[in-house]
Amino acid sequence: MKRILLLPGDGIGVEVVAQAERVLTHLKTTANLKVEFEQALVGGAAIDAYGDPLPEQTLIKAKGADAVLLGAVGGPRWDHLAAAKRPEKGLLRLRFELDLFANLRPAFLFDELVAASTLKADVVQGLDLLIVRELTGGLYFGEPRGMKILSNGVKQAVNTLIYDENEIKRVVKVAFELAQKRRKHLCSVDKANVLEVSQLWREVVNGMAKDYPEVTVTHQYVDNAGMQLIRAPKQFDVMVTCNLFGDILSDCAAMLTGSIGMLPSASLNQSKQGLYEPVHGSAPDIAGKDMANPLATILSVALMLRYSLQQPALAEQVESAVKRVLTDGWRTADIAQAGQEIIGTQAMGDKVIEALQ
Ligand code: IPM
Ligand code: MG
Repeated sequence: MKRILLLPGDGIGVEVVAQAERVLTHLKTTANLKVEFEQALVGGAAIDAYGDPLPEQTLIKAKGADAVLLGAVGGPRWDHLAAAKRPEKGLLRLRFELDLFANLRPAFLFDELVAASTLKADVVQGLDLLIVRELTGGLYFGEPRGMKILSNGVKQAVNTLIYDENEIKRVVKVAFELAQKRRKHLCSVDKANVLEVSQLWREVVNGMAKDYPEVTVTHQYVDNAGMQLIRAPKQFDVMVTCNLFGDILSDCAAMLTGSIGMLPSASLNQSKQGLYEPVHGSAPDIAGKDMANPLATILSVALMLRYSLQQPALAEQVESAVKRVLTDGWRTADIAQAGQEIIGTQAMGDKVIEALQ
């Protein structure tokens, strides 16, 4: 029996996780999937209940789970809080405490949604890339950090970009292994023309390349990589990069598909325990209105089936069901073209479950 912790979080997180749970429950009965659910609070909801975006009892449950499914955190109600107390801090601590160093962010464009992209169809049609982002180190966590007032009264702030070779190796290894199973191309993104950390990053990648002779390796500076993502995104298969660059590039990649409501993500540690979440946020403007697109969270369930529950066949079934629903023309508001009928969150969940049957 595998244990799944549901962390709906805030805003539309609650609605989309509910639909993903229905999909898993459906697989329990129809495909004999052996999972049990627990639920806990994270983000703003946890601040309201316990004054802490990641309460101890949530962290304990997360550590005991085989996989965690998270909706989204944050919202205007908590925007006035200091950085250390904000809902986002709960997510960052969860990543750190579970040592989820490898963040997989696929950007995949379904043929049915080509028109949703702001880019020309021939630039994006067939897009299928995967960003592997280092998630527990770099500028996000480096010490020293903080803000102070200097003796002359001037305010100063500092963050530290720091990686050791082992931190780089373990995430690059994940990227190489994924590239081996895909189109066998790995692009490492850095800023080695300026940063020592990037020079070390590049050295580590080149050192490991001989262990994966079938994978072709290229390097791009991050500014160029941003440009290439917009210019010719289909040149990429797997990209691997540090925490901050990955944060930025994954938003760019998401927008190539025109529909952030479609993109799943997985964050894994050494034992393949994982945190799965949609790439989109809590969307407070549409929360509670049955308008959110649950497909990114349902596709995150597919990643969970593949990476933490060792059920690759079921993962493919869920992905095919999503594709089928799109082919049949079902659209939530975020992915609808003018004139297309729009359905709600719950109804989209129904359609995926029907397609699974
Ligand atoms: C992401 C988000 C987070 C990050 C925020 C919410 C802390 O932007 O998952 O990409 O910067 O990692
Ligand atoms: Mg981000």
